[in-house]
This record gives sequence, structure tokens and C-alpha cells, in this order.
Amino acid sequence: MNSWEKQLETNIAEVLFDEAALSQRVREIAQQINADYQALDIDELVVVGVLRGSVVFMSDLIRQLQLPLTIDFIAISSYAKGTHTSGMVRILKDIGAPITDKHVLVIEDIVDSGLTMQHLFALLQARAPRSLKLCTLLDKPSRRQVDITPDYRGFEIPDVFVVGYGLDFADQYRQLPYIGTLKPEAYQ
Ligand code: PRP
Repeated sequence: MNSWEKQLETNIAEVLFDEAALSQRVREIAQQINADYQALDIDELVVVGVLRGSVVFMSDLIRQLQLPLTIDFIAISSYAKGTHTSGMVRILKDIGAPITDKHVLVIEDIVDSGLTMQHLFALLQARAPRSLKLCTLLDKPSRRQVDITPDYRGFEIPDVFVVGYGLDFADQYRQLPYIGTLKPEAYQ
């Protein structure tokens, strides 16, 4: 066993969604998105990934979309998590093109308190897109602090610490092909 395998064995508690489950669910979400936007007969969907957690999910999802689309990315600063003093999120890297009058679909890996999305949606809405929707792979509604309901979501999960398939702990584990839970001793 190499040191990476040892690290996984020490820190990953269980696999919550394996590769097959993720790929099946991504296909199902894509079918919904295809049906919804094909019905609108749009000429462009701007798919905006929120860096960095969304990149793995987004790269799998867009390959299942049968729509005319462009991709873009936005990086935002985290508010101080676990505090109630959080202000607005700040844009660290903005999307590359205007979205006024465009159909925009924001891709997230997880919606937890909902604060990130609340702030981001306010920022994007101010640019007057034609439509603005949210697709998240994971949803933790039990942690919600604001009223945000994703338009598309892969899985509802309980309040557990998850890593893999883009999700990190201290910037690690994003490359895991599955989503697993972290042992509490790994992050406490
Ligand atoms: C994560 C995730 C969401 C946000 C969700 O981002 O990607 O953007 O937290 O939490 P919330 O609903 O409580 O606001 P993170 O700041 O960990 O950055 P990352 O995408 O680079 O992992």
C-alpha cells in the first residue's frame, strides 16, 4: 500500500456515492436539463462553474448535455464559515463574458448554508440574465440558513463531511472518483 492509499484508508470513513451511482445520477440530471432547455428552443446556454469544487461534476455533466452551450467559470471568496458575521462573497475571478439576456445555469458541487449561492445569485441577477438557474450535485438542506432551492440537484445528503468528485478537505481529495465521508478525526 503506498502512502496515498494509506492516507485514504486512515481518513475516509465510507463511500457514499460510487462512480456508477454518480454517473447514473449525472445522466438523469442531464436528461432533465436537456428536456427543460430543449423545450425553450434556446440558442445558447451559458454554463457557469463555481470554482473549484464544481469542476469534476461540471465536466461530466456538460458531456451529457445536448444543447448549444458555452462554458465559463467564476471564483468567489468564501465568507467566514461558521460565523454569523459573514458579509458578501467577493468575486476573485469573474466570468469572461457578459450574461445580459442569456440563459445561465450555475453549477455547484454542494449547497450547504446556501449563503454562497444567495450572494452569487444576487450578483449575477444584477446583470439581467434572461434566466438564471442552479444545478448542484449535493444538497444539505438541514444546514440551510437562507431560502435557496436548487433547480436541479443530484443527491440530498445529511450533515456529514464529504470529499471527492471535486469536493475537498483542505484542498485535498478532489480527485477521488467517488464521494466519501471523512472520519471526524481527520478534520477535528
Ligand atoms: C463550497 C462549495 C460551495 C459552498 C457551499 O465552496 O463549493 O461554493 O462551499 O457552502 P454554503 O452553501 O454554506 O455557502 P468552498 O468555499 O469550499 O470552495 P471550493 O469550491 O473551492 O471547494
